[in-house]
Amino acid sequence: MIDLHTHILPGIDDGSPSLEESLAMADMAVNSGVDTIVATSHACSNNVNTQRYWDAYQQLKDALEKRHIPLKLICGMEIFLTEDALEAIENKSLLSINNTKYLLVEFDFEEEAWVAEYYLQILKEAGYHPIIAHPERYHFMQRDPSLAYYWVQQDYVLQANKDSILGRFGSNCQRLAIEFLNHNLIQVVASDAHGIRRRTPRMNGIQALLKNEFSPLYANMFLNENPRRIIQGEEVYTFPPRLF
Ligand SMILES: [Fe+2]
Repeated sequence: MIDLHTHILPGIDDGSPSLEESLAMADMAVNSGVDTIVATSHACSNNVNTQRYWDAYQQLKDALEKRHIPLKLICGMEIFLTEDALEAIENKSLLSINNTKYLLVEFDFEEEAWVAEYYLQILKEAGYHPIIAHPERYHFMQRDPSLAYYWVQQDYVLQANKDSILGRFGSNCQRLAIEFLNHNLIQVVASDAHGIRRRTPRMNGIQALLKNEFSPLYANMFLNENPRRIIQGEEVYTFPPRLF
């Protein structure tokens, strides 16, 4: 599997606090069937130090090799969208996924839907493909889930968190994530892992659930094929979306 959304880099954000924890996360990911991980540390315009990101990235990469942990590390960021972030993207001071046109983005949970929509339009017009992290967690989505259908029509990619589907962010979030899956409004499922105790990078449970409750084809598309396409800058596959 390819995990497209993780906070595995040590000491960069509220994810892994140390190299030891990052390596334990890597072990956990590998033991659950993951062979590639995208290190999407949090970024917004005023907290970003790209050099710090690359230092942590290299430190982890070297440690993985030294310990013979078979996990491929890919670069990226989870960009908190604001006006300033748009400017930073334009100045190329934030990282896309593996240097492609795909940007993993998130919003304030209390953001207005029209503001989120405005940011996404600007990115689209600039030639980017936004991947919306955990749509099921935003309040505006919980109020009006039909927006997800519109966003898929706009060619935005929707990435659900495995812990949302598994019910670890509460029942509202779980219900919405499952509804999105039932309506073919999700193209990627990722861990959004922050550590080894809570919000972990262990992906075998969600893989089994997607296989058994939906289909092996869905599991493969959301956990392997679409993440691979994104990393390679190719178009993602979307099962025919259904309106709410
Ligand atoms: Fe995240």
